[in-house]
Amino acid sequence: MEAEIIPAILVKRREDLLERINRVKGKVTSVHIDVMDNEFVPNKTVGPDDFAGLPGGVEYEFHWMVKNPEKWIEKVKGRHLHVVHIEAVENWQAIKEACKKAGGKLGIAISPATPIDRLEPVIKDVSRILVMSVVPGFDGQKYIIQVEGRIRELRRKYPKLEIEVDGGIGPATAARAHSAGADKLAAASAIFAQPDAGKAIEDIKNSAKKK
Ligand code: DX5
Ligand code: ZN
Repeated sequence: MEAEIIPAILVKRREDLLERINRVKGKVTSVHIDVMDNEFVPNKTVGPDDFAGLPGGVEYEFHWMVKNPEKWIEKVKGRHLHVVHIEAVENWQAIKEACKKAGGKLGIAISPATPIDRLEPVIKDVSRILVMSVVPGFDGQKYIIQVEGRIRELRRKYPKLEIEVDGGIGPATAARAHSAGADKLAAASAIFAQPDAGKAIEDIKNSAKKK
């Protein structure tokens, strides 16, 4: 199956968020919005106040790199995918309820240093696992090859779940992550640091096919 390329947007201002969404709208099914609170990670980005009235015609997934994600999710209504970090989960029930109230779906993200068996208690409630291939916090970092072992293992354990890889994805790494078992590839700098985002998306998609 072909890998889905998902543009990741890590910005501090709503106008930059809108500009990037509009740059890829019509070219992809969904976009990935990075949300950071300066607590869970040492960086701060756009947040729920910036998400009112986002453009239609594209699906949104929110990658919550925040403490107490339940408090943030409940502010973002609609049929979105909310991906929370397993390292930030204190009260899974509260997260589930916040997501249900907001009208969304749940995914779970895992940082490179966290053992994958930590996912077991929540896996039945999620449709997607987001495997981080960098330490969360910043775009433009180097893809950590060692995470491919866990992508393979997760694919074997959960053949039906969506597996997205996030961090350092571009034409040089897409095929590796895809052949390890990821069906979705998030990329920020490999798309938005290019003059033509549409071409960059095609380049990543085509390189994911090789191998
Ligand atoms: C990292 C973010 C990623 C990041 C990806 O904390 O979750 O989504 O924006 O950036 P690149 O593709 O540049 O590694
Ligand atoms: Zn992300």
